[in-house]
Amino acid sequence: MGIIEGERLRGDRSLNLLWQDTVVSKDDRSQAKGQKACCLWFTGLSGAGKTTIANLLDQTLHTAGQHTFVLDGDRCRTGLCSDLDFSDAGRMENIRRIAEVAKLMVDAGLIVIVSLISPLLAHREAARKIFDDGEFMEVYVNTPLTVCEARDAKGLYKKARQGLIREFTGVTAPYEAPVGAEIELNGRAHPDDLVKSIRLKLEEYGALEPPFG
Ligand SMILES: Nc1ncnc2c1ncn2[C@@H]1O[C@H](COP(=O)(O)OP(=O)(O)OP(=O)(O)O)[C@@H](O)[C@H]1O
Ligand SMILES: [Mg+2]
Repeated sequence: MGIIEGERLRGDRSLNLLWQDTVVSKDDRSQAKGQKACCLWFTGLSGAGKTTIANLLDQTLHTAGQHTFVLDGDRCRTGLCSDLDFSDAGRMENIRRIAEVAKLMVDAGLIVIVSLISPLLAHREAARKIFDDGEFMEVYVNTPLTVCEARDAKGLYKKARQGLIREFTGVTAPYEAPVGAEIELNGRAHPDDLVKSIRLKLEEYGALEPPFG
């Protein structure tokens, strides 16, 4: 019998890695795109409206000439994260991978919109730590559970109540509401109005202008 210590393996491997700075910087890339790169991290219950608002924001900004990209939890679960389950460890790794990809996209100068339940404070804090200061904006889509469950667009609440889905956020798994999110949205308002309020915040942050004027 033998024991393989994963952390030690990883540690030994990282000894042989050297950080490679790129010649073209993140600011150069942002400047070329006429914007300040950042990550908008949407969190909220299933059915809160994250995907709906994220896609509408993406479309609105794209039409206005900004350079954006949406990373949606559901899509990533079918590819990048298809090997992960919904256990605590699986969710944490799902979030870590998506945050790392979002970070690379921010380095590429994009306004990245992540749409992911990310139910625990620890999940969102771990994601925030991956980014430079001021680059990460948490967007809390605050929609009551009763409203999300009444919408039940995917029929998942019904299944969760029937005991057919284990660890379903809001029903059999916890959702920890953000404290001090940069943006909080009333998920019952019209998506058009919510997108307008996010745009205003992005303007305040200077995201829609090049970093050096
Ligand atoms: N602001 C809103 N007002 C009314 N209905 C909405 C609003 N936002 C979303 N919806 C509707 O609610 C349902 C769920 O929205 P959506 O799929 O965007 O939620 P989600 O937060 O992405 O959920 P999940 O985490 O399961 O992907 C959809 O049918 C959508 O049309
Ligand atoms: Mg969604």
